[in-house]
Amino acid sequence: MVSKLNILAVFLFSLSASKTQVEAGVFDVTSATYGAKLGSDITQALAKAWTDACASLTTSKVFVPMGTYMLTEASFKGPCKAPIEIQVQGKLQAPADGGKLTKPDTWVGFEHINMLTISGGGTFDGQGALAWKQNDCNINKDCKSIAINMRFNFVTNSIIQDITSLDSKNFHINILGCNNVTFHRVNVTAPGESINTDGIHIGRSTGINIIDAHIRTGDDCVSIGDGNKEINVTRVTCGPGHGISIGSLGRYPNEEPVVGIRVKNCTLTNTSNGVRIKTWPASPSDGIASDMHFDDIIMVNVSNPILIDQQYCPWNQCKQNVPSKVKINNVSFKNIKGSSATPLAVQIVCSSGIPCENVELVDIDLTYSGNKGPLTSQCSNVKPTITRVPKALACATSA
Ligand SMILES: *[C@@H]1O[C@H](CO)[C@@H](O)[C@H](O)[C@H]1NC(C)=O
Ligand SMILES: *[C@@H]1O[C@H](CO)[C@@H](O)[C@H](O)[C@H]1NC(C)=O
Ligand SMILES: *[C@@H]1O[C@H](CO)[C@@H](O)[C@H](O)[C@H]1NC(C)=O
Ligand SMILES: *[C@@H]1O[C@H](CO)[C@@H](O)[C@H](O)[C@H]1NC(C)=O
Ligand SMILES: *[C@@H]1O[C@H](CO)[C@@H](O)[C@H](O)[C@H]1NC(C)=O
Ligand SMILES: *[C@@H]1O[C@H](CO)[C@@H](O)[C@H](O)[C@H]1NC(C)=O
Ligand SMILES: *[C@@H]1O[C@H](CO)[C@@H](O)[C@H](O)[C@H]1NC(C)=O
Repeated sequence: MVSKLNILAVFLFSLSASKTQVEAGVFDVTSATYGAKLGSDITQALAKAWTDACASLTTSKVFVPMGTYMLTEASFKGPCKAPIEIQVQGKLQAPADGGKLTKPDTWVGFEHINMLTISGGGTFDGQGALAWKQNDCNINKDCKSIAINMRFNFVTNSIIQDITSLDSKNFHINILGCNNVTFHRVNVTAPGESINTDGIHIGRSTGINIIDAHIRTGDDCVSIGDGNKEINVTRVTCGPGHGISIGSLGRYPNEEPVVGIRVKNCTLTNTSNGVRIKTWPASPSDGIASDMHFDDIIMVNVSNPILIDQQYCPWNQCKQNVPSKVKINNVSFKNIKGSSATPLAVQIVCSSGIPCENVELVDIDLTYSGNKGPLTSQCSNVKPTITRVPKALACATSA
C-alpha cells in the first residue's frame, strides 16, 4: 500500500514538474513581462521574448497568440543555447511604407540558428501593394532595395511549418546558406500581377525540402539559384506565377554548381512556365547544373510547360550570340501531363558551346486546345532519350 502511494506520489510529482517546465519554456509576447497588445506594434516585445528564449538552457518557445499585430521588423539571431520554437498563431503586419522598415531589404530575418521550429498557422503580411507600384527594378539598375518578407540565413536542422507569407514587398521567402531545413505546409499568397514576389528562393544551401506548399504569386513559385545541393520540392501547387525554376545561372563569375534537385508530384496552374532551367549566355565563368529530375507533374494551362533555356536574357542585358558556359547534365522529365497554354509545349534549347548531356523525356502527355497552331516542340544542342512521348512533343523542330 505504502509503496503504491509512493509510486503515485512520484508519478504526480513528475507530471507537475514536467508541466511547470513546459510553461517555463514559453515566452508569450502578450504576457506582462513583454506587454504586446492586440493591434499595436510588437517589435520590442517580440525582440525581448526572443532574447530571453534564445538564452534558455532548455527547449523554449516564443509565442504570438491569435489576433493582428503590427511589426516594424524582426531580427531573430542565434546561436541559441537550446532548440527553439516560434509559434505564431496571429497575423503580423509590416508597415505598408517600406521607408518605415529598420532594414530596407528585410522585414523578418532568421540568422545563425540551429534546431529552429516555426509553427502556429499564422500569417506574415508584408502589405506589399504600395511597393509593387513603386518597383522599377526591371528598368532601373540602381533601384531602391525592397524588403523580403522572411530571410533564412545560415539556419540549420530546422522545420518551418504551417505558416503563410502574404503580399511580400519583394521575394517572400529567401533561403541562403542553410542546411537540412524542411518547409512543410508553408503557403505563399500574392496577386498574379505583383512584381518580383518570388515564392521561395533557395541559394547556396544543402538538404532543403519544400513539401505540401501552396504558392500563388506574381513571380517564380520556387526558384533555385547557384550552389544548391539535395533540394526536394514535393507536392507543391503553383499558380498564378512564373513556375518552378532552376536558375537563372551563369550570370555572375564563380557560381557554385547546382547538383541534385528533385521536383515531384507538383501541380502548376495558369503559370507562365512549368518546370524550367535557365542560364545566361556569355557566362563570365564555367558552371555546372546536374542531376535534376522532374517527376509526376500536372500542368493546367501552363504557357511553357517544359523548358530548358540557355539563352535566357531578359531585357537584352547580355550578348545573346555568345554561348552559355553552364554545363547541363543528367536531367529527366518523367510523367508530365496536362494542358499547355501555347502550342510550343516542350522547348529544350541548350548551349551551342556546351551541349546538354543525358537528358531524358519519359511519359510526356501535354495537350493544346487554342487556335495558334498545332502542338509542337523544339530542341537544339541536345539529343534527349525519348520514351513514350507523342511525336509532336519529341523534339519535332530544331532552333
Ligand atoms: C535534420 O533536422 C531535423 C530537424 O531538426 C533533425 O531531426 C534531423 O536529425 C536533422 N538531420 C541530420 C542529418 O542532422
Ligand atoms: C495553405 O493552403 C491550403 C490550401 O488552400 C490550406 O488548406 C491550408 O490550411 C493553408 N495553410 C496555412 C498554414 O494557412
Ligand atoms: C529528397 O528525396 C530523396 C528521394 O525521395 C531522398 O532520398 C532524400 O533524402 C531527400 N532529401 C532530403 C534533403 O530530404
Ligand atoms: C506522386 O504521384 C504519383 C503519380 O500520380 C503517385 O503514384 C505517387 O503516389 C505520388 N507520390 C507521392 C509521394 O505523393
Ligand atoms: C487562369 O487565368 C485566367 C486569366 O487570368 C482566369 O480567367 C482563369 O480563371 C484562371 N484559371 C484557373 C484554372 O485558375
Ligand atoms: C543522375 O542523377 C541521379 C539523382 O541525383 C543520380 O542518382 C545518378 O547517379 C545521376 N547519374 C549520373 C550518370 O550521374
Ligand atoms: C490560360 O492561360 C492564358 C495565358 O495565361 C490565359 O490568357 C487564359 O485565360 C487561360 N485560360 C484558362 C481557361 O484559364
